Amino acid sequence: MAKTAEASTTSQNKPGEAFIIYRRTVYILSLIIIIIAAAYGCLPELIRGFCLVLPALIANGTPVVVSKKLIKGGLHPVDFGKTIRGRRILGEGKTWEGTISGIVAGLVIGIPVALYFKLSIWFGGVIATLALLGDMVGSFVKRMAGLPRGACVVLLDQLDFYVFALLGLYWMGLASMVSPRCWILLGVVVAALHLATNYLAYKVGWKQEEC
Ligand code: CTP
Ligand code: MG
Repeated sequence: MAKTAEASTTSQNKPGEAFIIYRRTVYILSLIIIIIAAAYGCLPELIRGFCLVLPALIANGTPVVVSKKLIKGGLHPVDFGKTIRGRRILGEGKTWEGTISGIVAGLVIGIPVALYFKLSIWFGGVIATLALLGDMVGSFVKRMAGLPRGACVVLLDQLDFYVFALLGLYWMGLASMVSPRCWILLGVVVAALHLATNYLAYKVGWKQEEC
């Protein structure tokens, strides 16, 4: 009963034509952004921003590998299988194993970034934790909307973790290292990377959905 909104509705999870158009548009936009940034000498700023959110990207991608490739089965859901009005709080897609591995991976990748920018050594761990929290907020919103695990939601899936990582950077006083305009442009690049890596993970059989 605890899995009411968890039914494996693969057809519902399969992205439609609109999602494919959206994905291609994000790819093209992000390419344009990179080309224009290079032409106007803004690439270093874009790269600086990318380095600051790298722990978030790594934290978001690690759980897929850990839960599907390293630990097979016996995973522990973060919401302990609990429901609100018959709907799972987060669902089977958010596990303790995935979350902890994501935080550790973000912390590790954050060390060279922290050393380069002279930040706290815990920088990556903080950004990774917030990114995974953002990912869980995204799952919570999806579950409360009645969407099953793995359902594709445009923008939310690609940017929940990025927005929370940005909040962390503001909180740590680091967001000003990059202009607001650049953070927005980087959001498009991050969304493109998220879509591309998820698609690749789907193609190699690490994910059941393309998004
Ligand atoms: N994962 C995990 N723990 C997390 C995040 C992700 O174990 N905190 C694993 C799960 O196996 C999950 C996969 O990584 O299925 C892909 O993550 P994501 O796309 O965020 O989850 P979905 O399965 O799509 O679930 P949801 O609809 O809740 O986003
Ligand atoms: Mg997903």
